[in-house]
Amino acid sequence: MQSLLALCAVQVTRHQKMACRALASLPRELYPALFRAAFMYGRTLVLQALVQTWPFPCLSFRQLLPHPKQMGWPKRPRRESVQAVILALLAPAPRRKPQLRVLDMTGFLDASCGQDPTTMSMWARSVAVARTCLSAQTQARAAQRLAKRRKLDPQASVTSPVEVHTDLLVNRTSYNVLKEALQTSTSGPLRLRCRDLWAEELSGPSTVALLELLDPVCLRQVDLRFNNLGLSGLCTVIPHMAKFTHLLSLKLQYSNVDVRQLTAEAEGSFQRFVSAIGQLKSLKELNMGSSRLSGRLYQLLSCLQSPLESLELPFCALLPGDLSYLAQSPHATHLKKLDLSGNKLSGDHLGPFQILLREASATLLCLDITECQLMDAHLINTLPTLCRCTHLRYLGLYGNPVASAGVKTLLEQSQVLPELQLIVHPVPVDCYKDLPWPPSSASLLEGTVDEEKLASVQAELQQLQQAIQRHDVLWTMDIYGHSSFDYFSL
Ligand SMILES: *[C@@H]1O[C@H](CO)[C@@H](O)[C@H](O)[C@H]1NC(C)=O
Repeated sequence: MQSLLALCAVQVTRHQKMACRALASLPRELYPALFRAAFMYGRTLVLQALVQTWPFPCLSFRQLLPHPKQMGWPKRPRRESVQAVILALLAPAPRRKPQLRVLDMTGFLDASCGQDPTTMSMWARSVAVARTCLSAQTQARAAQRLAKRRKLDPQASVTSPVEVHTDLLVNRTSYNVLKEALQTSTSGPLRLRCRDLWAEELSGPSTVALLELLDPVCLRQVDLRFNNLGLSGLCTVIPHMAKFTHLLSLKLQYSNVDVRQLTAEAEGSFQRFVSAIGQLKSLKELNMGSSRLSGRLYQLLSCLQSPLESLELPFCALLPGDLSYLAQSPHATHLKKLDLSGNKLSGDHLGPFQILLREASATLLCLDITECQLMDAHLINTLPTLCRCTHLRYLGLYGNPVASAGVKTLLEQSQVLPELQLIVHPVPVDCYKDLPWPPSSASLLEGTVDEEKLASVQAELQQLQQAIQRHDVLWTMDIYGHSSFDYFSL
């Protein structure tokens, strides 16, 4: 429900020219409501005027914009709105002396809504912000030159710098503009402050060059994806992160690391990598997705200075010993989020996995065990431990060879978990046509499904859910159709 103030603000900002004229005579207390309305409905003229005359030192998207789930607003802010705010930073200073010191754009649009063409992707937003920083610098220099020629005090044209806090997604196409913008950020009128840096397919030296330019206290997350750096590349990059004292999250998916049979030289790289990770004092989240870590998890995690709260190790070829180590490590009792997808958890792995789950049961909120070769017997054997995880909100079980009987048992027993919100369950194995046994992950993902059978199982699941009155839990087989449980939002 929208408040009366919000409804009025929406009406006022519809008549853009009138609203702009009226701004000067409006009390500043109305600015936040007007901003929210203008932003969400794409009233770009009003938005620009609001940003140019913003009467407070800080303008924060997170504080001002409605939560995506809040009723009554358009689902997502439009591309034009984001552009208008960024461009307003460039517009000539209005008569009123600008108060704005910090524009905080972090955390309102994430990568998950990059698919929606009406919104601005994180990549495009990063480029737009960078270009604006560069243009602002050019404008400021031109103004200074003009002042000099007219023999005015060049400092008179200098306005106080505005810090622009933002998350940056960079790839090779946008690398140069981002780098230049960060370089001007030390002295220009707009100063980029990066909170989360996502770098895609960048080389080691390029990544280091960017890291060197970032503000040491603002950085919260580094996500190097598809960079294929290997151990030798990583151990040149990670040491440059030690200066980021607030770095909480490091994600290194698809880094092409395999520690199973190391040459003497690669062994040295692994040791250097491990000790560099150990220098990250604030680290709470680590993702080593697709690194083959068999038998070496102990070395990697025992170097950390404090326990992790989020550990993502999908497709890491973990051995039972790795799970046993994790279970008795200090990390186990602090984990809010654990992703073991794509590791075998059946057979000899099952016991250590259950011990790990028991240790984590007091803190665990999100458990992803997609494609872990768990069958009915394994799942049912694990249920008592799983049901001890009383804060569990999310369980990812997709791609496990579980039958409809197993899924039903899970549904019935999971009713003791009061905070559960989402379960992504597999297509039950009895709903396939001609599934080889035991089924491979590929045959579970690509096998032919008996749609009729599946529909009847789904109907039964729905009935069960009604019977136990858990309408608050979403049971789905769609692995993409829901927002991910990001560590920072837990
Ligand atoms: C970088 O990302 C943008 C936006 O997704 C894309 O259009 C571009 O092709 C990417 N560049 C490279 C080198 O992959």
